[in-house]
Amino acid sequence: MKINKICCIGAGYVGGPTMAVIAKKNPNLRVTIVDINEERIAAWNDSDVSKLPIYEPGLAEIVEETRGKNLFFSTEIDKAIDESEMIFISVNTPTKTYGKGKGMAADLKYVELCARNIAKVATTNKIVVEKSTLPVRTAQAIKSILSNTGSDVNFDILSNPEFLAEGTAVEDLLSPDRVLIGGDSEEAIESLANIYGSWVPQDRILRTNVWSSELSKLTANAFLAQRVSSINAISELCEHTEANVDEVAKAIGMDSRIGSKFLQASIGFGGSCFQKDILNLVYIARSYGLNEVADYWEQVIILNDHQKRRFSDHLIKTLYNTVSGKKIAMLGWAFKKDTNDTRESAAIYVADHLLNEQAEIAVYDPKVLESKIQSDLNYLNTRSPEENKQLLVSKDSPYEALDDAHAVAIMTEWDEFKSYDWKKIYKQMKKPAFIFDGRNILDKAEMNKIGFEYYSIGK
Ligand code: UDX
Ligand code: ADP
Repeated sequence: MKINKICCIGAGYVGGPTMAVIAKKNPNLRVTIVDINEERIAAWNDSDVSKLPIYEPGLAEIVEETRGKNLFFSTEIDKAIDESEMIFISVNTPTKTYGKGKGMAADLKYVELCARNIAKVATTNKIVVEKSTLPVRTAQAIKSILSNTGSDVNFDILSNPEFLAEGTAVEDLLSPDRVLIGGDSEEAIESLANIYGSWVPQDRILRTNVWSSELSKLTANAFLAQRVSSINAISELCEHTEANVDEVAKAIGMDSRIGSKFLQASIGFGGSCFQKDILNLVYIARSYGLNEVADYWEQVIILNDHQKRRFSDHLIKTLYNTVSGKKIAMLGWAFKKDTNDTRESAAIYVADHLLNEQAEIAVYDPKVLESKIQSDLNYLNTRSPEENKQLLVSKDSPYEALDDAHAVAIMTEWDEFKSYDWKKIYKQMKKPAFIFDGRNILDKAEMNKIGFEYYSIGK
């Protein structure tokens, strides 16, 4: 089936960049991205591309090139569904915060709403592509909703999980390691493979059954997160011995069976996928009575929570067992560099812990807005929004955030942090001036020479 028009429901971190790249590489395909969030769509349509709702290196240029030609952003969801031959579902699937599976299972209400909407509106046959990260067997649920509409419209369901990482999304989309398409209709699979085929070599487009495709996504994220937890576990051991985690990571990474990626010890992994996907895996395993399998993967999360906690515990202990009334500067709030996304960022949990100890926090992040920082904290419900606003402020310049601070905690590995004038910062800070480098981006010898008391992870 030759596809001429596609739409994507959900203009977020996945839908936005993915559709922009598809539009760029398929100039004859008309691509419409729809969302219920009017403000978000307005931002995607802003003539000033620096105001796009998502910061991703290289994305603004692609949007500028394609928007209004074959890439459109709209809130007219029904119209886009009706017109399109292929519909991508790319809405958020957060961890459930209520009811059965609370704190573990994925909340599929947005996906279900989309499926019901497609069922209501569609008058011609459609290929529906699940792009959101979903637990295994979700396609079945979508299929069941779509096939009980009473009409004779035919729906083919494909699973096409996204493997892009934020901060490198455009690069990952332009040259993916692989594209995975799961489905049972060969015709539908080939229609989607054709769209990717305009820039991805055929041998990198894998065709599988739906369940393999869904499970592969969870498994990929679980394996990646496990590597981070593994090296973070070793970082704690290094701190108690004479070993240096960077040296260990380098030594093991050169073993081709292990490989060098995802061995950077850190404050703990964040992001919208790792924790959610592992929780999903654990929930699914438990629901099949596979307790050992569930416990095995759950340990990756337990270790990650421990890593965040021990960072703030160490900071408090080093500051003479109290941070009450002390100004702590935090550099970075995003869960990694080159993104304005803060979902599950370690910074949120470290800040919350320090605020419980009555610290005063000043945050600087190059891309995250103050309103986002406050809403992240408020979401935890530990304090009232008024209290949060009073105790944690966000600054427009790093030097303002660091002025008169007792300690600085580096939470995100933004490149610019490395080139700051650390001598000037030292002069501005209270003495002794402490650095807690949660990303191991600064040089210990250099910082000690300036006069800082410098601590990093795993050394
Ligand atoms: C991840 C997967 O990489 C991607 O394939 C999937 O589609 C979505 O989830 P993302 O969450 O955007 O992508 O970022 P990723 O680069 O995987 O980093 C996740 C977290 O792990 C970040 O907080 C990062 O700082 C941390 N991390 C990563 C480390 O602490 N050490 C490492 O060595 C690598
Ligand atoms: P992701 O990282 O998975 O892309 P985001 O939260 O960035 O997640 O994006 C998901 C988008 O999906 C949001 O902009 C949200 O408004 C949108 N969305 C959620 N439910 C619906 C729905 N039923 N119809 C249209 N858009 C929706």
